Amino acid sequence: MKTLITYCTTHGCTEKTATELKQFFGGEVLLVNLKKEPVPDLSSFDRIIVGGSIHAGQIQKKVKDFCTQNIDVLKNKELGLFICCMEEGEKAEIQLQDAYPNSLLQSAKATACLGGEFNFNKMNFFQKMIVKKVAKVDDSVSQINHDAIKRFSQQMNQIFNPFMFFV
Ligand SMILES: Cc1cc2nc3c(=O)[nH]c(=O)nc-3n(C[C@H](O)[C@H](O)[C@H](O)COP(=O)(O)O)c2cc1C
Repeated sequence: MKTLITYCTTHGCTEKTATELKQFFGGEVLLVNLKKEPVPDLSSFDRIIVGGSIHAGQIQKKVKDFCTQNIDVLKNKELGLFICCMEEGEKAEIQLQDAYPNSLLQSAKATACLGGEFNFNKMNFFQKMIVKKVAKVDDSVSQINHDAIKRFSQQMNQIFNPFMFFV
């Protein structure tokens, strides 16, 4: 089983999350930062996971473009879609649904919101101002959801067994 994890990160959280996810998959696993590295030939992968983070309600444009440009290939893979964000519950779920094309969300084996972090060391002046005003947070905080990462990987690793309906 060959796995590709493609992602975009603004301040490093999605990269950390993608790296943590990688350890749960056997076989060959390639991590590709869509902002820095070229997209490899997708046909050589059995499983593709796409991740990005939410800023002002939107996932990175590079993630959106990757999905729309490769939509037909992605639909035919074992697909996983995730976001990193600081909203939780229903609000996070709405952001996830807005981040990816509907047809990919429908065909994905697993979708998830994997938490996030505010990293003040990496933010510019305006980003700090927005986070302080909107989230009312003025220091770095990490809320990466390690349990959700594990659950997401377990869903991706689940093997469909038609005989399970007969036991
Ligand atoms: C300027 C700014 C705007 C943000 N807007 C949102 C938002 O609209 N919704 C949300 O859930 N999280 C928001 N976040 C939190 C990010 O999604 C969170 O910091 C995430 O972990 C970033 O991941 P990255 O470091 O991989 O880019 C925002 C963060 C910043 C700095």
